[in-house]
Amino acid sequence: AGLSRSARGEMELCGRSVADLISSEAKTPVFVMDVADFRARARAYKTAFDKAFGSGRSQVHYAGKAFLTLELARIAAKEGLGLDTASAGELTLAIASGCDPKLIGLHGNGKSEDLLHHAVTAGIGRIIVDSLAEIERLQRVLDGLPQAAKIPVMVRITTGVHAGGHEFIATAHEDQKFGLSLLGGASEGLSPEHQNWTGRYNIASNDSPAMVAVKLILADERLDLAGLHSHIGSQILDFEGFKAAAKKVLEFRAEIERKTGYLVDELDLGGGYGVAYTPASEPGPNPEEVAQGLYQTVQEVCNELDEPMPFVSVEPGRSLVASTMITLYRVLNIKDQPVGTREDGSIIYRRYVAVDGGMSDNIRPALYEADYTAALANRVSEAPLVAARVVGSHCESGDIVVHNVALPSDLDEGDILAVPMVGAYGWSMSSNYNWFTRLGVLGVDQGSQDSDGTPVTKWLLEPETVDSMLAHFDPA
Ligand code: LLP
Repeated sequence: AGLSRSARGEMELCGRSVADLISSEAKTPVFVMDVADFRARARAYKTAFDKAFGSGRSQVHYAGKAFLTLELARIAAKEGLGLDTASAGELTLAIASGCDPKLIGLHGNGKSEDLLHHAVTAGIGRIIVDSLAEIERLQRVLDGLPQAAKIPVMVRITTGVHAGGHEFIATAHEDQKFGLSLLGGASEGLSPEHQNWTGRYNIASNDSPAMVAVKLILADERLDLAGLHSHIGSQILDFEGFKAAAKKVLEFRAEIERKTGYLVDELDLGGGYGVAYTPASEPGPNPEEVAQGLYQTVQEVCNELDEPMPFVSVEPGRSLVASTMITLYRVLNIKDQPVGTREDGSIIYRRYVAVDGGMSDNIRPALYEADYTAALANRVSEAPLVAARVVGSHCESGDIVVHNVALPSDLDEGDILAVPMVGAYGWSMSSNYNWFTRLGVLGVDQGSQDSDGTPVTKWLLEPETVDSMLAHFDPA
């Protein structure tokens, strides 16, 4: 985000004093988003892919699960990005944003008949199927609808590539719930569901689940096998996994062509590009590196296999939005907790700084042991720094905001702390634990300024209130 310090050392976001935002426009805790940063990142991705692949031969989709609002969906669309959705809610939002349905995709390993019906009738650009049962479900939905244009579907492939930060966000190794495997065949004791398919459609007994899916789709003239999809995980810093996955999918594409004569045009290589959460952490690849890296890999493998270049798409979420938001918290309490004894008998203390939010607005430290940093935002302090742990005010000890950060020793109740890099999977994974209200997201937009040159602020999401929660949840 456009975070900086004024000449006097005060923290500013896009030239607006953070202390001033808190006193005049918002209460803590609150997310503040640098909207122009998001716009610039969307544009950088689009430009980099157009440049690497040639115009019209690639498409970047924003993975809305990272953070999505109507305004953001519109900005992404305006910058030429598609929208990747993964639930009924995200799909409904994407459609409501008014962006071209052809640029909307739908993911998910548990799509209901209702959801598929919604996707089909809205005419979205691609449904990424995740299981054989889903194909059958989609066919049932189509049975009940008048014959219309072919429905574009992609098959999500499990490439067997293990990548990503934390086990919960790695998605392409074999033993996890997503995708259709390239391993095994019906003869190797796959599920009765698979046996059922092979019997019905005369599919070879050694076909993998992915190949069975492809054949099922090709056998139904209402469906268009638009592409193959691979998403290997998230917060990935090393590019090797993307190369390995692209190779697997391209080999599978060639196998499909050999076995069926059908050449799949599009390859979606998913998202997953990592970001640096703290100043000490390794930076992730920038859009140029992603686009160039993927282009090179895909081209090399295509040459090796003597296959034509596919249309390539990607679905970054985190790398588009993580850096665009900060959280502002107010310090509620500071406690020096005796945590042990040294050999000489002296006590070891850890400073716990409690703030007015926590795991309900950022579950990532508790769920993935994710690292963040924090800084004093409302004033300048010359005091020496002391190691501290920033914690939330929820009823559990795992409620950590920042595991370890150096903060001024004169930090006091009432001070404001800013936590950067919270734009991805922060608000979007927030909860009402302990009846905390979900935070508002205040957008500061350098791209549109007042007559005196001040960047415009507006709520991208209004803060929830306990009253609004009571009104919503109380059936009476
Ligand atoms: N495409 C698919 C099919 C995905 O499942 C995901 C993320 C993305 C794209 C976007 O990945 P990204 O570029 O954001 O890494 N809650 C976790 C991350 C879960 C990612 C789920 N899928 C976290 O906070 O780290």
